[in-house]
Amino acid sequence: ESVTARELLEIGRAAAAEAGKLLVEGRPADLGVAQTKSSPTDVVTEMDTAAELAIRAAIRRYRPEDGFLGEEGGSEAGTSGVRWIVDPIDGTVNYLYGRPAWAVSIAAEADGETVAGVVLAPQLGEEFTGVRGEGSWLGVRRLRVAEPEGLAKALVATGFGYQARRREVQGRIVAGLIGQVRDIRRGGSAALDLCFVAAGRADGYFERGTNPWDHAAGALIAQEAGARVEGFHGAPASEAMVLAAGTALFPALHDALAALGADDRDY
Ligand code: IPD
Repeated sequence: ESVTARELLEIGRAAAAEAGKLLVEGRPADLGVAQTKSSPTDVVTEMDTAAELAIRAAIRRYRPEDGFLGEEGGSEAGTSGVRWIVDPIDGTVNYLYGRPAWAVSIAAEADGETVAGVVLAPQLGEEFTGVRGEGSWLGVRRLRVAEPEGLAKALVATGFGYQARRREVQGRIVAGLIGQVRDIRRGGSAALDLCFVAAGRADGYFERGTNPWDHAAGALIAQEAGARVEGFHGAPASEAMVLAAGTALFPALHDALAALGADDRDY
């Protein structure tokens, strides 16, 4: 198997472009309204599923032996050592309400390590890409993480899970952090939050409860822009915690969150 990370990136980009087109052109103009009227069919879930199928089909045209892990289609084993991690719509609630901050997120793993990633935000007209060891880009512009002068000057992004109990704890952690930082943002897409750290549009990001398809591509893009992306106490980023920041800010943000109990195993 001699495929390069760049080749995988180009395949991922082509698949993301197809899905993005389908999601923009296929989105009913009154989606938010239709949804809140509690129609029996979940239009967003249907769009999500259709987009993920399109992504898998597009990738299979080039790479029939690869495995998949996706939000909608579950996991499929492959035989090539390459696995694709796919979120057709990261930021589903934004998509539902017609807010432009949602993205198609696709990462390629080779032998268990993310080597290429694309986060395409069609309604922002922005495509973030990353290649392990080579860098990350917004379009053709190379990305570099910002380094604020300490936590008090840091703009920190976060997100909340879907379960009420976890959200309550997340709210308490945010309440404890807000007085220590410049401000907090809840953008609604973990993939874009990580790309925004890469682009210096936020200084840090943390969230508990994301799935690999939410953070795999964005984590690579942030790392390749110079960010540290980890869990608590040196653990790898995972569902338990994804924490991203420049190398100087990272320890301060990590310690502030730990002091607030964000590293508690029960939350
Ligand atoms: C969600 C978004 C959101 C984050 C949630 C994710 P989805 O992904 O990334 O920002 O806070 O944890 O589940 O469900 O829209 O693909």
